[in-house]
Amino acid sequence: SLALSSNNNDFLRCLSANIPSQLVLTPSSPSFTPLLVSSIRNARLVAPATANPPLCIVTPTNASHVQAAVRCGRRHSVRVRVRSGGHDNEGLSYRSATPNGEAFAVIDLAKLHAVHVNPHEATAWVETGATTGELYYRIATAAPGLGFPASVCPTVGVGGIISGGGIGLMMRKYGLSADNVLDASMVDANGNLLPNKKAMGDDLFWAIRGGGGGNFGIVLAWKLRLVPVPPKVTFLKVAKTMDQGAVDAVTKWQTLAPALPDDLSVRVVIQKSQANFQSLYLGNCSTVVATMRSRFPELGVTSADCKEMSWLQYTAYIYFGDAINSKPLEALLLNRSTTLGPFVKNKSDYVKKALTKETWKKIFLWPNGAGSGQLILEPHGGIMGRISANKIPFPHRSSVLYNIQYVELWKGKEAGGDITPNWIGSLYEFMTPYVSKNPRGAYVNYRDLDMGVNKVVGGVMCYETAKVWGERYFGPANFKRLAKIKRKVDASDYFRNEQSVPPLPLK
Ligand code: FDA
Repeated sequence: SLALSSNNNDFLRCLSANIPSQLVLTPSSPSFTPLLVSSIRNARLVAPATANPPLCIVTPTNASHVQAAVRCGRRHSVRVRVRSGGHDNEGLSYRSATPNGEAFAVIDLAKLHAVHVNPHEATAWVETGATTGELYYRIATAAPGLGFPASVCPTVGVGGIISGGGIGLMMRKYGLSADNVLDASMVDANGNLLPNKKAMGDDLFWAIRGGGGGNFGIVLAWKLRLVPVPPKVTFLKVAKTMDQGAVDAVTKWQTLAPALPDDLSVRVVIQKSQANFQSLYLGNCSTVVATMRSRFPELGVTSADCKEMSWLQYTAYIYFGDAINSKPLEALLLNRSTTLGPFVKNKSDYVKKALTKETWKKIFLWPNGAGSGQLILEPHGGIMGRISANKIPFPHRSSVLYNIQYVELWKGKEAGGDITPNWIGSLYEFMTPYVSKNPRGAYVNYRDLDMGVNKVVGGVMCYETAKVWGERYFGPANFKRLAKIKRKVDASDYFRNEQSVPPLPLK
């Protein structure tokens, strides 16, 4: 409408009065589309993002630019979406998933990626535009002997992953990324800079550590507690086909992996009827081989299956594989690029009671159709079971055996065709009786819009509608507390998207 487009122009004028023009790109710039797609990791999301592009992309180089973008947005009724690493499984950091949705701008934090490590205190401040690979590299080079528990994949953004929790191979020993946040700085829904948790207050500081990105404000930096890692850690990998006993091994793994020593994490990737056991042990080869031979003899682990390396090398090796041997570890820094593979759709579950062998056999043989399906099983237990379910918003703690991530990959013919091939949907439905219930749990960082999208009622997102997925991500009590905090810090619901936390209604 006329009013809207005049708002949009006023918004752009407001930005140009407050932010250097080279930091604001509009669709007329030749650099706009390359920047828009620069951190998209999923071919399924490219066409929807470029077909309905943001009004502009702001690439702040300091906090005042972020504040200005929020203030201009509020003044002229243009919403902003914030992007750190761009890995959101539904692309909500850079695209509107609502047909004919309202105009929006993107704040892309990629230029704010400094990492300041304090080796004596074992802490680091990391700006949210950094990737986890960059964080790992800066920690290990400034403070050998220290590390941080975060993603397996080093291209993930620190802004999104820590906002939603952060699971990885050190979580059994040290918890989620968000469990290790000591402080933070952020820009709130009024464009104010809140430089630390004291300025935020306990509620808001609780909400941003696991309550999901894009809900409460724009986090500029996290202060992290770094964790000790030994000089050498061990990578261990064993593959089993069904003929080699994969089904029995996974059946046993379900209760074994969560009960192993905290410094040993064994995850499983199941693909093409094969189970790939991958592990991180915070210690040497001979110890982990002995542990695995006594606790999990079915895998037949030998010292030939394991490799010792530094923790930093490990973070690169698990992603690049043997290719890292011919690359410098600085490869961890160079990971914001458009290398688009297949179309991808993800879902998640939590398992609290082990599945039977017969059930696993059906899962292994579930028909793939035209795509290919992958299950990634991440063991809980360890410290994850000892942290209470309301310490931070992430609720999946003591009773959980493991997390399942379903990943379906396919080649899309019609670009942007938002088709979900049938492996993931049918398997997810089949799994209903075997996974957590009332509510069926899901991990907010494996965002899945199939669970539902927000509805605007009375100018704000509807709490009742949002409960459907919100209680699955956060549990009923945590979700209600998040909504209450949202009402306190952003009552008019400025920061919102298709699955944002709505303000709790007053009555
Ligand atoms: P992106 O920039 O898309 O942001 C995600 C959400 O957070 C959006 O809603 C966005 O608006 C918001 N946001 C971003 N920056 C913010 C900020 N500074 N302040 C407030 N809100 C902000 N997860 C995991 O726990 N362990 C893992 O090992 C992996 N591995 C993995 C691999 C790959 C290839 C993908 C695609 C994803 C994962 N994930 C994961 C999931 C990942 O944690 C999740 O997608 C994160 O939200 C991604 O964070 P980014 O900053 O990259 O995303």
